[in-house]
Amino acid sequence: MKFPSEPFKIKVVEPIRRTSREERERLLREAGYNLFRVPAESVYVDLLTDSGTSAMSDAQWAGLMLGDESYAGSKNYYHFTAVVQSIFGYRHIIPTHQGRMAENLLFSTVLKPGMHVPNNIHFDTTRANVEHQQAEALDLVIKEAYDPHCELPFKGNMDLVRLEETINRLGRHSIPFAMITITNNSGGGQPVSMENIKRTKELLTRYGIPLIFDGCRFAENCFFIKEREPGYEGTAVIDIARELFSYGDGCTMSAKKDGLVNIGGFLGLNNERWAQDITNMLILVEGFPTYGGLAGRDLEAMARGLEEVLDEDYLRFRISQVRYLGELLDAAGVPILKPIGGHAVYLNAKEFLPHIPADQYPAQALTVALYREYGIRGVEIGTVMFGKRDALTGRTIHPELELVRLAIPRRVYTNMQITYVAESISELYRRRDSIAGLTMTYEAPMLRHFTARFEELPPL
Ligand SMILES: Cc1ncc(COP(=O)(O)O)c(C=O)c1O
Repeated sequence: MKFPSEPFKIKVVEPIRRTSREERERLLREAGYNLFRVPAESVYVDLLTDSGTSAMSDAQWAGLMLGDESYAGSKNYYHFTAVVQSIFGYRHIIPTHQGRMAENLLFSTVLKPGMHVPNNIHFDTTRANVEHQQAEALDLVIKEAYDPHCELPFKGNMDLVRLEETINRLGRHSIPFAMITITNNSGGGQPVSMENIKRTKELLTRYGIPLIFDGCRFAENCFFIKEREPGYEGTAVIDIARELFSYGDGCTMSAKKDGLVNIGGFLGLNNERWAQDITNMLILVEGFPTYGGLAGRDLEAMARGLEEVLDEDYLRFRISQVRYLGELLDAAGVPILKPIGGHAVYLNAKEFLPHIPADQYPAQALTVALYREYGIRGVEIGTVMFGKRDALTGRTIHPELELVRLAIPRRVYTNMQITYVAESISELYRRRDSIAGLTMTYEAPMLRHFTARFEELPPL
C-alpha cells in the first residue's frame, strides 16, 4: 500500500476549534505577525513543530501512573537507562528536561572561546548554544543540500572533503568534537546514510576527534536507511540504530521528537571525565542525576516511547503520512523541497512568492497568509531564523533557503486533516500574487524568530 493507514485507533480526543478570518486577522495583528505569538487554541491545524507535540500511547499514559517520585534512585530512572543503553549503547546516560539542556551542558563543559564545532547543519538552538560559548558553529553538509530540487536519498550527509579541509585549516585541537544531526532538520529533515556516518567516523578518528550525534529523529533516519541504503533492506530498524550509534562517542537527544513524549531529553557519553564534569553541572542547574529535571513518570513515558518509536509499522505510517502531504502538494505544482523529509514538508518560499524580495521575509509572509486564510500554523526557516547582520554594513546576510516548515506531530492528525492542509495550500498557491511582504519592527539579540514582531507592507 502506498500510503498505509494509521496503525492505531483513537481513544481520547482533543477538540479543535475553527476561527473566523476576522478573528485570525486580529490575532495576527496582536501577535506582530509572528505565529509563535498566536494562542494555540486559535489554530486549526498546528504544524509549527513536531517537538513535544506527539500523542502518547495508552502504554505511555499507563506508565505515568507507575512514576516513582523518589528524589534519588527512582525505579523509572533504571528502566529509562536500560532502554536508552540498549538502543544507543553509551556508557553514561544523563537525563535532561529537553534537548537544548543536553547541548548546553555538553558545550558549556567542553567548548572554550575560539573553538569550532562542525556539524552537517546545526539546529537553531544548537548553533545558539555553541555561539553562547563564543565558539564557532560550522555547517558542512554536502552542497546539494542547498539545492531544493536535487533529489538525493541522503541529502543530510556530511561533506567529508570540506570536513577534512576544515580540520586541517583550523587545527585538530580547536575542534573538541564534531556533530551529525539525524535527520538534518534545518536542511529539510533529510537523512544521513550509514556509509557517510562510517566514513565521517573514520576521518575523525584519524584526527582523534570524537563524534557526537544530535539524535532527535534517529528512528526516522534509521527507517530511511532501511528503505534506501543497499544492504539494510532486511535489517531491523533497532539494529540499524544500534550500528549507527556505535560509530559515535555520544549523543544529545531531544526525546520530544523520536522519544514520543511531551517533555524530556538526555545526553549519552562514553567519555568518563566529560560525564563526571557534566553530572556535577547537572546537579547545579537541572537536578539530581537520577531525574535530571524530570519527574519519575516522565522518565517512564520516555523509556516506553523510545521502544515504541522503533515499531516498523509506526515508522512506515509516519514517514508515509509526511510523504502523502508532500506528494499532494507536488501534484498541485506547489514548490516544495525535495525529496520529502522525515518529519516535515518544506515549502520553498522563494519560488512560492517570487514577487517578495528576501529582505521582506517571504517565508514569514507565507506563514502569515497560511494562518490568516486557513488557520494552519507553520514555521519560517529562512531569514528571520537564520539571517545575520553584517557587522560593517548593517545589511542582512540571507541564508540560502527561504522555507516554511510544515512539521507533522506524531500520531496526532488524521490523513483527512492532512488532506485539508494540502488542499488549502494548493488554493493559496493559485492566488499567491495577493500575498504581501513584511518589515521587522522588533528583534531580540539571540534566537530572534521566537519573539520578533513585524508589520505588513502594502501589496506590490
Ligand atoms: C535537530 C534538533 N536539535 C535540537 C533540538 C532542541 O531540542 P529541544 O527543543 O528539546 O530543546 C531540536 C528541536 O527542535 C532539533 O530539531
